[in-house]
Amino acid sequence: MQQKTFITSPIYYVNDIPHIGHAYTTILCDMLKRFRILQGEDVLFLTGTDEHGQKIEQSAQKHNQTPQAYADSVSVKFKELWNEFQLDYDIFVRTTDSKHCQSVQKAFEIMCEKGDIYKGSYEGNYCISCESFFTQSQLGENLSCPDCGKPTQIVQEESYFFALSKYQDKLLEFYKQNPNMIAPAFRQNEVVKFISEGLNDLSITRTSFEWGIPLPENPKRNDSKKHIMYVWLDALLSYISPLGYMQDSAKMAYWENALHFVGKDILRFHAVYWIAFLMSLDLPLPKHIYAHGWWTKDGAKMSKSIGNVINPQEVAQAYGIESLRYFLMREMPFGQDGDFSQKALIERINAELGNDVGNLLNRLLGMSEKYFSLKVDSKDVKKFFATELNELENIIDRTQEKMQTMQPQRYIEELWAAFSLGNGVITKYEPWNLIKNAQQDKAMALLGLIANILAKASLLLYPIMPQSAEKIAYALSFTISPDSFATLIKQHALLDSLILQKIPPLFPRIDSPLMPESTQEHIESKPLDSKTQGNQTKSANIANLIDIKDFSKIDIRAGKVIECCAVEKSQKLLKLMVDINEPKPRQIISGIAQYYKPDELLNKQVCIIANLKPAKLMGLLSEGMILASKDENGLSLLCLDTPRENGSKIS
Ligand code: MSP
Repeated sequence: MQQKTFITSPIYYVNDIPHIGHAYTTILCDMLKRFRILQGEDVLFLTGTDEHGQKIEQSAQKHNQTPQAYADSVSVKFKELWNEFQLDYDIFVRTTDSKHCQSVQKAFEIMCEKGDIYKGSYEGNYCISCESFFTQSQLGENLSCPDCGKPTQIVQEESYFFALSKYQDKLLEFYKQNPNMIAPAFRQNEVVKFISEGLNDLSITRTSFEWGIPLPENPKRNDSKKHIMYVWLDALLSYISPLGYMQDSAKMAYWENALHFVGKDILRFHAVYWIAFLMSLDLPLPKHIYAHGWWTKDGAKMSKSIGNVINPQEVAQAYGIESLRYFLMREMPFGQDGDFSQKALIERINAELGNDVGNLLNRLLGMSEKYFSLKVDSKDVKKFFATELNELENIIDRTQEKMQTMQPQRYIEELWAAFSLGNGVITKYEPWNLIKNAQQDKAMALLGLIANILAKASLLLYPIMPQSAEKIAYALSFTISPDSFATLIKQHALLDSLILQKIPPLFPRIDSPLMPESTQEHIESKPLDSKTQGNQTKSANIANLIDIKDFSKIDIRAGKVIECCAVEKSQKLLKLMVDINEPKPRQIISGIAQYYKPDELLNKQVCIIANLKPAKLMGLLSEGMILASKDENGLSLLCLDTPRENGSKIS
């Protein structure tokens, strides 16, 4: 029987649009789902939006909307973003779904029948931003919230309470029996300490505002109408209501093996309240809670008032969702805080994706085409490279272990040892010399070894970068699936003999930031931008002499601009399509928008460097560079005295 697994992200408050922290957790879930599916499991992945509570009611008022209309408008933004990111969620729960509301009401009654709910009155401090109650001893300076630092409000109201204190010993016993329940381990220690210090019963209904699930009508209670559910009771139950809890129970079997991802700030709600609620409801307890750290921006906390909040959509549009996924998983040691900077992102794309992975595949394709017409055969790999194969299998085992213990960053580090192995064997065995010395068999085995390294590594790369992994698999003529995972990873089998498929470079080099920094739009193209270059030209400081061989490396062509338009959100860039007599016109992104209007360039013949490595600017591929001269009087394009045929070489 296939193992059923349930993976959840937190459900996000609709008082804010998605930011990088939300994207991080949701991508983590998607990553784990893909990994578990490859392992043959049947996985459900839940995400959604948390739409009730005082905070949402207040935000809706500020926007002059009803809470429901406001929640509808923001919830859809989360859903659209996860769709745009191709995150493979199965359930998008909204706490305003009627099915969810009914499950919450039924759960409340079950807790009542169990004797875990009683009526009392609450007097204390409440943080609306965290939707959380605090005792006097927990409060920060000036009665501020110990979690977010914002001022708390004194709340005095009649309330139903959940008898959390009753579960103190059971909770401690549970964590004793399950020492690896929470990852990273130090977080479990913090939770155990919190419980050991004593648990207060929890106020689980509110009367001072209206936006929440009402208590179920019950003749034993005459005041049900006055109370609404505390937003965390409501929200936590959203993990089981879409599985059909107390309704059709259709998918409750998945609940037997539940895994939660949460940020460190909401661990207590999950590791203490949620577990106690589940104990009260006599439901199975989750298998793991994975608590991640927070993203900062260039070392600072992200905040709307500073204006440094990273919008994941902008990053993905500039650098691609695959590179964003890679960066998020690689940069942040799971459980600790991590910093987002474009510099670090670009460095990782160029070095780790471009050089280590992209080049390895290119080298394989190039050599295999040159020496063996793209044929690859694994039959002699063991004979010539048993030690390397053995090392590869060890790397693969070590890599998988890191996912079992939820250390995605270490997983990637281990996986990269496989790409290093691939690059290393080329340097060590020099296939071109094997061919020269008539060792064709060994050269074929070496390329077979590299193809197998890439195939196995791509299977393990799939959870992190699904589309790139699929492209590598396509080049190696196989598909990523639980079956190929079983043969190539679990059974350590090798690829059958195959014909490689050529594919375009996977990770084009990025030479400068593709997103405006918060204060200043970046300047995209060094040759046109550089003030220093203008000055150097003026003083005719021509120091770096080159010989004609160096110059002949630059392929300059005449070409006609057949289309030209502005680049959205950029004041500096134009997008040009230039005909240089190739089957398709070249797309060139050029920093000349301040000097030329698109119409002025149409049908103009310009000179371009045609063999410059492609680069991405503001998310758009640029396949060449237009030549121009710039000084303090402006910029002038290099044009020909009399028109030439498009594609004519300039020397
Ligand atoms: N609605 C509750 C969760 C209920 S789950 C039953 C909530 N929502 S939230 O929208 O405020 O936060 C959702 C998640 O985003 C939390 O896990 C939180 O840790 C995470 N993050 C918020 N800012 C973050 C960063 N700067 N970095 C990483 N994650 C961060 O809490």
